[in-house]
Amino acid sequence: MRLDRYLCELNIGSRSQVREFVRKGLVSVNGQVVRSADQKIAEQKDQVAFQGKTLTYQRYVYYMLNKPRGVVSATQDNTAGTVVELLAPEGRKDLFPMGRLDKDTEGLLILTNDGELTHRLLSPKRHVDKTYEVTVVHALSAEDIQRLEQGVDIGEDRLTLPAKVDAVSENILHLTIQEGKYHQVKRMLQAVGNQVTALKRIRFGGVDLDDGLEAGEYRPLTSQEEERLRADRNETGY
Ligand code: URA
Repeated sequence: MRLDRYLCELNIGSRSQVREFVRKGLVSVNGQVVRSADQKIAEQKDQVAFQGKTLTYQRYVYYMLNKPRGVVSATQDNTAGTVVELLAPEGRKDLFPMGRLDKDTEGLLILTNDGELTHRLLSPKRHVDKTYEVTVVHALSAEDIQRLEQGVDIGEDRLTLPAKVDAVSENILHLTIQEGKYHQVKRMLQAVGNQVTALKRIRFGGVDLDDGLEAGEYRPLTSQEEERLRADRNETGY
């Protein structure tokens, strides 16, 4: 990998900034100051330092994004902005969203370059908990809640898997599901004669949306959050 790309990926600066840092002699490779940002480095082997501090290259990275409404959960789209474009343009180029949220859904979306973990967590067999804050048109009855919890017919071969419902108010619920079928939450509420007016994901696989993040903002996952994501268990156990 070229030295300027390596430094960008570690968020040392933008492409032009890191080239300037190299020109100024602030970067060394294996103890030698280098003057060319085009130099190739072996990111797992070479020891790169910036202003005397050794850098550690991370093969895999994980970011938590508070997805705003109106952007698409994809790496490319011809008609709308994508979640990947929300991350600093000079950063890593190999990120993709861990699953999808509808264009009009907001909230927690993890962006990563770890295809293996993504594949594992999104596998239908895996049953990762996802919690949504759901705002609905009609007040939910105790019977609606019971039906959602037991499983409803959304036009698939089988009923939805048991879900967990926490009523926040008459028209707002926290719904935890383990599947990820197309428009699943909207279809589940439709199945009980209701309609979703706002949808926000607040939890994914043991990781909570950081309420300090405004819509469109992101931050790296902490190492504890990464561990929770990897943990091979279903925390809710309902
Ligand atoms: N269910 C939906 O209906 N939409 C989403 O974006 C996520 C879950």
